[in-house]
Amino acid sequence: MKIIMLGAPGAGKGTQAKLLSDKYSIPHISTGDIFRANIKEGTELGKKAKEYMDAGALVPDELTVDLVIDRIGREDCAKGYILDGFPRTINQAQKLTEALAETGDIDFAVNVDVPDEAIIDRMSGRRVCPACGASYHVVNIPTKVEGICDRCGAAVIQRDDDKAETVKKRLDVYHEQTQPLIDYYREKGKEVEIDGTQSMENVFTSIVEKIGE
Ligand code: AP5
Ligand code: MG
Ligand code: ZN
Repeated sequence: MKIIMLGAPGAGKGTQAKLLSDKYSIPHISTGDIFRANIKEGTELGKKAKEYMDAGALVPDELTVDLVIDRIGREDCAKGYILDGFPRTINQAQKLTEALAETGDIDFAVNVDVPDEAIIDRMSGRRVCPACGASYHVVNIPTKVEGICDRCGAAVIQRDDDKAETVKKRLDVYHEQTQPLIDYYREKGKEVEIDGTQSMENVFTSIVEKIGE
């Protein structure tokens, strides 16, 4: 099963992608996570990506598309995958469609819908685990022990691009460049609309109900 997670920054794409990855036993591929790992390791790609990410802008397609196409061609993706944060522009979506022409198009584009007002709160409260990538929220989804990841015990941190100013910019970029993808996948008959304002558990149940066990 090939799934794309659509939705604004902070809508819960990563949170749901992890749950779906466990349920269907297919890899969770997040371009944001890949860029953040490269920043942490100090790679050339990381250095380039950081400039754009800190500004709340998109990393150029030249640095993004081939990376994803290469990743989904690997063996662990043979049974499918969950793309989180890609595609993010119409050009990226077209490139993905072209790349899948032979092996088969994606099955579902899950659109996790959350209004902007709720997004600001989610991102300012978000804490992430730098070791295993788990995502928490200080109020909505707190860690069992304050500041410590439930899954692996590392100290959780706030993401660099979750500052209020950058969040606003990321939302603008989303509305301008990424939201048009909803229509792109709706026209293909792939779009699945999910109310992302529900609890984490109920969002998950809604997705599974629509895409099947
Ligand atoms: P990326 O890492 O993809 O960030 P994003 O799309 O902005 O989305 P987020 O990761 O911020 O949010 P999310 O939807 O995953 O929400 P989460 O589950 O964490 O990209 C970062 C940057 O990388 C971009 O700005 C860009 O520069 C670059 N980039 C990445 N991909 C690119 C591409 N394809 N092309 C170009 N550039 C690219 O949840 C958010 C919070 O809410 C958490 O605290 C969580 O615990 C909480 N929460 C989740 N679900 C619920 C719920 N149901 N109820 C209450 N709280 C909840
Ligand atoms: Mg994410
Ligand atoms: Zn962890």
